[in-house]
Amino acid sequence: MATPKVVSPGLHPQLVKLLEADTYQYSKGRPHPLSYYYLSRTAVRSIASLKTLCFLSFLVIIAWTFLSRRSPYSNAAWEKAVLQSSQRQEGGQMTVLVTGAAGFVGSHVSLALKKRGDGVVGLDNFNDYYPVELKRARASNLEQAGIFIVEGDLNDQNLLMKLFKLVHFTHILHLAAQAGVRYAVKNPLAYVHSNVGGFVTLLEQCKNSQPQPAIVYASSSSVYGLNSKVPFSEDDRTDHPASLYAATKKADEVLAHTYNHIYGLSITALRFFTVYGPWGRPDMAYFSFTRNIVEGKPITIFQGPHGEELARDFTFIDDIVKGCVASLDTALPSTGSGGKKHKKAQFRIYNLGNTQPVKVGDFVSILEKHLKKKAIRNIIPMPSTGDVMFTHANVTRAKHDLGYNPSTDLSTGLHIFVKWYKSYYKEGAGHEDMLKGYKPY
Ligand SMILES: NC(=O)c1ccc[n+]([C@@H]2O[C@H](COP(=O)([O-])OP(=O)(O)OC[C@H]3O[C@@H](n4cnc5c(N)ncnc54)[C@H](O)[C@@H]3O)[C@@H](O)[C@H]2O)c1
Repeated sequence: MATPKVVSPGLHPQLVKLLEADTYQYSKGRPHPLSYYYLSRTAVRSIASLKTLCFLSFLVIIAWTFLSRRSPYSNAAWEKAVLQSSQRQEGGQMTVLVTGAAGFVGSHVSLALKKRGDGVVGLDNFNDYYPVELKRARASNLEQAGIFIVEGDLNDQNLLMKLFKLVHFTHILHLAAQAGVRYAVKNPLAYVHSNVGGFVTLLEQCKNSQPQPAIVYASSSSVYGLNSKVPFSEDDRTDHPASLYAATKKADEVLAHTYNHIYGLSITALRFFTVYGPWGRPDMAYFSFTRNIVEGKPITIFQGPHGEELARDFTFIDDIVKGCVASLDTALPSTGSGGKKHKKAQFRIYNLGNTQPVKVGDFVSILEKHLKKKAIRNIIPMPSTGDVMFTHANVTRAKHDLGYNPSTDLSTGLHIFVKWYKSYYKEGAGHEDMLKGYKPY
């Protein structure tokens, strides 16, 4: 039987010839040569599409790398948001960059400044030292008030340069820092990164700005370290820090002096004493004690080597806000340009405390009263992680220069805090999961 003619337009003539030859032996069970041809064509097609796929993937990777390297702050929408946020309203006298604006103190002061008409732009890296959801919630409060928080790190020189080019900041309120005494044992470099590296990056930017802004920044009562003279006053020695956190805050004070001395930056350091209040920090004792008492869990209270109780000069957030705002209002302009100062610039250090230290045991009793629930007290010797036995502020200087006058006693302040805590974290409010699994250091 003759082999049927193969009609295959487009085939290689050599192959057509071969297929059309009557002599070809199908009967021997060998595969038809056309099948080889189609197989190879399919293979060639697959390789071609694989190549296309590889090429496209390559393009996608390049585009992704490019886009992810592009900072989120290099677009028109970002610039518009920054500029809008920096606008002063009626009554506003200054344009302030608040670093750490998504933090506890930063969010409160930002709102206070905005309320009286100042232009406010925030900066925060939203790190996860404590639940980021709380920082986001604070940021959303600020957004509602017309304050934009730039999401970025203090150490990002390009970001700072871009920001300062866009907005002429008259004042910087620098509150961003790695806070917390005990966490420094676990992650010391986080403190060096934010509190030392970040501060110097910011000072460099301020020094180079024309005109230079005035700077108010957060130091800490922890710089008094092992100081045993009470109450602590600004002229006391601060060269015996008890924790790495305190050492970085002391380093900030020394660095600030250097930039003031060489470059004429006007700088004010505020030594805060244990700040507490609504929207506070979940890593701090007043917050974690409240949470544990509410949840029926034990609280851990530290004791000194001879059974002494620790005492803290707890300061309510509203008093701290007043102190920050008054410091900004009384800050004199910086005096430098072109890398040098033209005359001596203002350099100030103030204690911002409450002046009434309370023993931790008494503090827990006040909390129990407001929570209407007894605490399960677990009293243990204080670990050697850097806490000091007591803090007590002398605020004479702040009173004189800033009109600072703390007016909220601990019971009133804790009552306000507990009210906020209970309503914010009550069942059904949608925030119950925010602290789930979080354990302070
Ligand atoms: N709360 C207190 O009792 C207390 C006491 C003494 C001093 N202070 C100081 O006051 C300031 C404010 O404290 P807080 O209680 O609001 O703390 P916080 O942790 O709530 O706020 C600090 C904010 O800074 C941000 N931040 C940290 N490192 C950053 C970086 N490298 N770049 C950008 N943002 C960064 C964090 O994300 C955080 O939102 C801090 O400098 C703290 O050391 C606070």
